[in-house]
Amino acid sequence: MRCRDLDAFKDWFTEYSRTFYTDNAGDSKNIDLKVRHTFLVCENTIRIARDEQLGENDIMIAETAALFHDVGRFLQYSRYKTFRDSISVNHGRLGAEILREKHVLSQVPLQEQEWIINTVTFHNAFEVPSFDDHKKTLFLRLIRDADKLDIWRVFAEYYQSPEDEQPSAVGLGLPDRPDYSKAVLTCLYEKKTATLAGLKTMNDFKLLQLSWVYGLHFRHAFRLMAERKLIHQISATLPQTEEIAGAIAIIEEFVKVKSGV
Ligand SMILES: [Fe+2]
Repeated sequence: MRCRDLDAFKDWFTEYSRTFYTDNAGDSKNIDLKVRHTFLVCENTIRIARDEQLGENDIMIAETAALFHDVGRFLQYSRYKTFRDSISVNHGRLGAEILREKHVLSQVPLQEQEWIINTVTFHNAFEVPSFDDHKKTLFLRLIRDADKLDIWRVFAEYYQSPEDEQPSAVGLGLPDRPDYSKAVLTCLYEKKTATLAGLKTMNDFKLLQLSWVYGLHFRHAFRLMAERKLIHQISATLPQTEEIAGAIAIIEEFVKVKSGV
């Protein structure tokens, strides 16, 4: 891949995303959110990739995968007015389809196209599938870490902002009441990633998001997480019970150990 290919991809993305803005302020806020998210995921990706000492070409491939990881979100939103895959469409697969149909990547080598499309397809899968090609695993893990870091930011901002300023498509529509499920909390104690199935309250969803920390791969992702105080920003909006405090302490310690500082 050449630098000018990456520049052309950025131009394509900007033009493409621009076509989804409408006169409706609520819709535009949701589109804005994804555009901003995309560029911040690109930044996170570059930082993690540099810390892993990837070569320049691999960093450009990773950045392209980051740039397009959520390209399916725009069509998903314009068709269904939601970012919830479970009630609309798998946005990873949709994004891959768009890239193929529009021949967006055609100027780069086939092998690189395959790595990028594979990453877009699986970036939102519950678990990272296993691939014989280690580069597929590498790029996918990179984008998933970079993506989680920025999703934590999006939600930390969402939880802390007044209701009328919150982008409408961010929440899962779960009731914001004081209780939470023991099953989700248990995942945090057992260092497991919780699943979306069975969530009952907004607090369950916050706990689930905190459990993503157990799916992070790269040292620099843990460092960025600690540096940005993302755990605290989310946990501060949870009920301050002893069992939640215990789970948060375990997570904080996990991040500290994985950061290697
Ligand atoms: Fe995504």
